[in-house]
Amino acid sequence: MTERPIRFVHRGALVEVAGLPVTTSVLNWLREQQRCTGTKEGCNEGDCGACTVMVGELVQDNLRWRTVNACIQFLPTLDGKALRTVEDLGPAHPAAQAMVACHGSQCGFCTPGFVVSLAACQQQHQASGTVPTRGDIADALSGNLCRCTGYRPILDAGEAMFKTAAPALDDAATAVLLRTLQADPSLHYRALQPATGAVESFTAPRTLDTLAEAVAAQPQATILAGSTDIGLWVNKQLRVLPALTYVGAVPALKQIDVQGDVLQIGAAASLEDAWAALVAHWPTLREMALRFASPPVRHTGTLGGNLANGSPIGDSPPVLLALDARLVLRHGSAERTLPLDGFYLDYMKNQRQPGELLVRIDVPLPAPGTQVRAYKLSKRRDCDISGLACGLAITLQGDTVQAVRIAFGGLAGTVKRARHAEAALLGKPWTEATLQAAQAALAQDYQPLTDLRGSAGYRMRSARALLQRFWLETRPQDPLPASATQVWSAA
Ligand SMILES: Cc1cc2nc3c(=O)[nH]c(=O)nc-3n(C[C@H](O)[C@H](O)[C@H](O)COP(=O)(O)OP(=O)(O)OC[C@H]3O[C@@H](n4cnc5c(N)ncnc54)[C@H](O)[C@@H]3O)c2cc1C
Ligand code: FES
Ligand code: FES
Repeated sequence: MTERPIRFVHRGALVEVAGLPVTTSVLNWLREQQRCTGTKEGCNEGDCGACTVMVGELVQDNLRWRTVNACIQFLPTLDGKALRTVEDLGPAHPAAQAMVACHGSQCGFCTPGFVVSLAACQQQHQASGTVPTRGDIADALSGNLCRCTGYRPILDAGEAMFKTAAPALDDAATAVLLRTLQADPSLHYRALQPATGAVESFTAPRTLDTLAEAVAAQPQATILAGSTDIGLWVNKQLRVLPALTYVGAVPALKQIDVQGDVLQIGAAASLEDAWAALVAHWPTLREMALRFASPPVRHTGTLGGNLANGSPIGDSPPVLLALDARLVLRHGSAERTLPLDGFYLDYMKNQRQPGELLVRIDVPLPAPGTQVRAYKLSKRRDCDISGLACGLAITLQGDTVQAVRIAFGGLAGTVKRARHAEAALLGKPWTEATLQAAQAALAQDYQPLTDLRGSAGYRMRSARALLQRFWLETRPQDPLPASATQVWSAA
């Protein structure tokens, strides 16, 4: 594989970068190399949105812009793409103008990030011919924190900007440049890491076969997907990663299809696309999808990364366990399929072998009559990691529980099913008495720990309360409608 510089589009021109460390963040490149200091550094871990930029890609030959957190994106992941910052939107952009007119800024530190997120929201709705509600705008801004202005004027600005059409900016010219980059060979980039004096590498195969071969041949290299976890290893734990194998340049790994009665989600599909596909089949998962991180994190983070990292508080595993998902793994050319149930062995340990790549998540489509819910408890409504999350699926025949799958995260060292609670429900009438038996059985399934996200007592009481909510929403008589349980509809 031939070594070459990173090539992408910025400010209407092709940019080539060589010699910078592999894990240089897009944010540091912008601020330190380009002096584009409109993009700010707040938290440096994807939480505050001060560093929000847009990344443009050709998707079926159409240019698509999506927001990302520049602080946790490594520069080589921009190869073949386009970068747009607050400077490129300019002060005349309707989002910037509306922020001024509605007094949406005080100290101004967060403002560039808000303007970029608002501009992306406007662009997206303009393209689909929709007008967002105030709640939709709040969701679009869930990755942006403001510590001094307060959100009312910012949401006012979000509504006001729709009075003026979003400009196309330099989209046509950018698409032309991106097409020329498609002729580049796949990226193999190497550079010196000054902290260690060693050479680091970033390899981005373009086909599934070459990627699987690269992962098998170099099992010690770190598999990199959206870097919404790995970016923090570098920024916060100061870890050195001598070799990265990037999964994001393989189109087949981002594919989402229905084959027969199975929804197949490529492991490198973004969380945004993967959850959209899940919500299309199970609309009751919408609230969970919106509460998963923030748009910029969901645009880069992948479903495969969320399952492979093995976190006991990841939001996808409980839901996918309730849906009985299977994982397709590949070592070189050998493929195997494992149920997600049983994939996690212990805290941060799973059945993936060194040199093995997660390639696909297979989710059986809903059986008729199955009701599915997912709930998440966190200290903050927006962009917060779960204290507790669960996925629940129940099939009733008349009033009787014919099938049930319940999985919780945040109650044990791994996300796992509540087998005793399930057994207490199976074959029984779905009544309050059965619910109470299942609530009691949760104590046999989990012995939660106390940590900074919650005490053991809080976790168990909350798990029982969530089971009760599930019963209230799915009981045969008088089930609670969504309008009684969702924040914006209740407001
Ligand atoms: C601000 C913020 C908010 C967040 N909020 C949430 C939240 O609400 N809920 C939640 O669950 N998570 C949350 N996360 C965590 C994170 O976004 C997810 O875990 C994400 O899905 C990780 O995916 P990634 O593609 O970014 O993985 P990466 O960071 O690239 O990789 C994560 C791990 O998975 C491995 N990996 C990735 N792809 C593969 C593959 N195809 N095969 C084998 N191994 C692979 C990597 O080697 C690494 O060990 C948040 C993170 C941030 C920064
Ligand atoms: S600096 Fe806070 S999200 Fe990037
Ligand atoms: S205006 Fe000061 S943080 Fe938002």
